Amino acid sequence: MTDSVLIHDKTFIPFIKKDVIANRINEIAGAISTDYKDKNPLFLGILNGSFIFAADLFRGLTIEAEISFIKLASYKGTSTTGHVVTAIGLEESLKDRHIIIIEDIIDTGKTLSSFLPEIYNRQPASVAIAVFLTKPEALKHDVKADFTAFEIEDKFVVGYGLDYDGYGRNLPELYILE
Ligand code: IMP
Ligand code: MG
Repeated sequence: MTDSVLIHDKTFIPFIKKDVIANRINEIAGAISTDYKDKNPLFLGILNGSFIFAADLFRGLTIEAEISFIKLASYKGTSTTGHVVTAIGLEESLKDRHIIIIEDIIDTGKTLSSFLPEIYNRQPASVAIAVFLTKPEALKHDVKADFTAFEIEDKFVVGYGLDYDGYGRNLPELYILE
């Protein structure tokens, strides 16, 4: 196939087209704009993977809103705290704010389920999750997205911000492992 792409050792084929992605993200932006009218939500984009989805979603909003970006650092805690994920660069006060976390993909759900307690500890008024992709078959942890662009099968994808070992984030549409 001529429009497949090779990244490192793997071949990926077109999966979700640019205009389909754009239309779906505008739908979600519309739904969020309705639900969060007059709530001045604070979006928290999780780097690196969410930056393109976050940019398109945020541009689609018709309400007042703020956005900030954080990185997650993961380390092994004590035997009682288990796997710990903390936010780097979280400077805004979340107290009494309506928070919408923007993530690229919920795969097993481990990342978000480890990180959400840190958000709740900061006493926000509410917390919602907006995610570009979910893989329902891969989910192992108790996390549920409030806004999902696409549910996909349990296969590796790249493009639209998602990478395979650092590359492929700039592909304008989504590609799936052949
Ligand atoms: P989780 O903690 O298992 O939910 O994994 C979430 C993270 O794994 C995402 O933020 C991605 O960085 C990465 N990931 C999971 N599946 C894919 C994929 O299909 N393509 C690219 N990255 C993925
Ligand atoms: Mg990620």
